[in-house]
Amino acid sequence: MKPNPIELSIPTTNGNLHKPLVTSNHFILPVITLALLISVHLYIGNFSDLRLISTATPAGNSTDDAKCNIFQGTWVFDDEKETYYTNETKCIIDDRQNCMKYGRPDTDFMKWRWKPDKCELPEFDAVEFLEAVRGKSLAFIGDSVGRNQMQSLVCMLASEAYPIDVSYTNDTRFRRWEFPTYNFTLIAIWSPLLVKTRDQNPTNFTRNSIMNLYLDEADDTWTSQIENIDIIIFSAGQWFFRPFVYYEKGEIVGCHFCNQENLTDLTVYYAYQKAFETTFTTLLNLQNFTGLAFLRTFSPQHFENGDYNNGGNCVRTRPFEKEEMHLDGYKLQMYLTQVNEFKVAQNEGEKKGVKLRLLDTSDAMIMRPDGHPNHYGHPASDNKSFPDCVHWCMPGPVDTWNEFLLEMLKMEGDGFIQRSTQRNTTKLNLR
Ligand SMILES: *[C@@H]1O[C@H](CO)[C@@H](O)[C@H](O)[C@H]1NC(C)=O
Ligand SMILES: *[C@@H]1O[C@H](CO)[C@@H](O)[C@H](O)[C@H]1NC(C)=O
Ligand SMILES: *[C@@H]1O[C@H](CO)[C@@H](O)[C@H](O)[C@H]1NC(C)=O
Ligand SMILES: *[C@@H]1O[C@H](CO)[C@@H](O)[C@H](O)[C@H]1NC(C)=O
Ligand SMILES: *[C@@H]1O[C@H](CO)[C@@H](O)[C@H](O)[C@H]1NC(C)=O
Ligand SMILES: *[C@@H]1O[C@H](CO)[C@@H](O)[C@H](O)[C@H]1NC(C)=O
Ligand SMILES: *[C@@H]1O[C@H](CO)[C@@H](O)[C@H](O)[C@H]1NC(C)=O
Ligand SMILES: *[C@@H]1O[C@H](CO)[C@@H](O)[C@H](O)[C@H]1NC(C)=O
Ligand SMILES: *[C@@H]1O[C@H](CO)[C@@H](O)[C@H](O)[C@H]1NC(C)=O
Repeated sequence: MKPNPIELSIPTTNGNLHKPLVTSNHFILPVITLALLISVHLYIGNFSDLRLISTATPAGNSTDDAKCNIFQGTWVFDDEKETYYTNETKCIIDDRQNCMKYGRPDTDFMKWRWKPDKCELPEFDAVEFLEAVRGKSLAFIGDSVGRNQMQSLVCMLASEAYPIDVSYTNDTRFRRWEFPTYNFTLIAIWSPLLVKTRDQNPTNFTRNSIMNLYLDEADDTWTSQIENIDIIIFSAGQWFFRPFVYYEKGEIVGCHFCNQENLTDLTVYYAYQKAFETTFTTLLNLQNFTGLAFLRTFSPQHFENGDYNNGGNCVRTRPFEKEEMHLDGYKLQMYLTQVNEFKVAQNEGEKKGVKLRLLDTSDAMIMRPDGHPNHYGHPASDNKSFPDCVHWCMPGPVDTWNEFLLEMLKMEGDGFIQRSTQRNTTKLNLR
């Protein structure tokens, strides 16, 4: 047996003054939480490093807040805070995230607002958002946590406009919505690993079944659709923890949790890095993409006291304070892996006229163990005994991601997408 890669790769946190009050099992959880993601498969449904990375992030030129990193801050309780929507709003809230519908008794988790250290994060304004995206298209490409944000956005816009579903398929993982008044198109593309995959045995897909992952080939479910899209939000995370055999140039290069003595376990980070490298390189090589692409960073889960199937849960009803919890262990490693790859691509993007931006939500969300459905998000037909500490209740802290998104779009200034701009079409080579 190969040593466990996650355990060995946990970065040191020696520089930290504050130890997290809560320690979770960093090894087992990622594997286990995958089951939750798979169950939604067919359904719609050290810190100084961190700061260095984050500080450079919010791009574009804003006003007084030019030096403010909106992603560094704290959660502040605001008893007066109203949610942007409720479970009665005319918008789709996936039953699995509809915590109010399924009787979550506490409501304080909806009353915390994000306060960046050096400025304010403005409230979301549906009209302002829709004006910013007038005549444009925005695609969420990724996994079910990405869809969580997409649905939150639709609900946050519902006070101003309701979209028409113009999807070309009944497969609810792929959606296309039009907002006629604003000539705005919202698209959801299911691609949880961003690169190509194939089930080794398609008739026997389980959380332990081995999938082939083609690390140097972008998933054509998204590459075939994005030429004319203006804004993209990429996300990917938990799916990388399942068993895989990794391929590059069509050949097996190694695996992860595959239990085959003759294959090297290359670690989940290896694949995560390659997948983002491939994703960004492909994006930058697409001739007709002249838009703006965001990477929404790793979304942490908060299982405590066990795994999803042996008593683990997330019962907290208030956020952690900054001193109590921060990204560490495998979560930090996943975050740094994707962000490092993002940085490389961002520099290339500048040369080629493609803007890459970080929607750097990880730091804020690690403090929100109270934001998950736990047992309050399952449709009647589902196995209620499985808690969900991966996705986010709606309404809830996930709505903050769209406050960030609007703020980022505003920072780009007017005319942030110029369709006529001549692209630098020099092809990048995969390293
Ligand atoms: C932002 O910078 C661009 C050029 O870098 C400039 O054209 C634009 O006017 C600036 N916008 C604001 C709001 O300062
Ligand atoms: C919304 O939530 C409230 C309170 O949790 C509940 O009483 C009501 O039935 C829910 N309505 C819908 C449509 O889910
Ligand atoms: C809607 O936006 C598209 C893309 O910007 C543009 O080509 C089209 O003319 C717009 N339609 C209307 C009715 O404004
Ligand atoms: C979608 O489902 C409806 C009802 O089940 C069916 O009538 C329709 O043909 C389906 N459309 C597509 C594109 O599969
Ligand atoms: C399906 O996969 C499971 C676990 O990976 C295995 O035990 C079982 O034998 C497989 N069944 C078939 C029909 O391949
Ligand atoms: C590894 O061993 C398995 C049997 O355990 C075999 O099926 C497979 O082809 C081998 N793979 C390689 C790359 O040699
Ligand atoms: C890319 O843009 C060029 C020029 O605007 C156009 O001729 C070509 O058809 C576009 N390609 C795709 C795949 O949309
Ligand atoms: C075009 O892009 C390539 C690769 O990113 C870069 O080396 C080159 O300097 C760029 N050319 C211009 C004119 O920006
Ligand atoms: C639901 O989960 C429990 C706990 O893992 C399990 O014992 C039970 O068999 C499951 N029920 C169904 C219907 O899958």
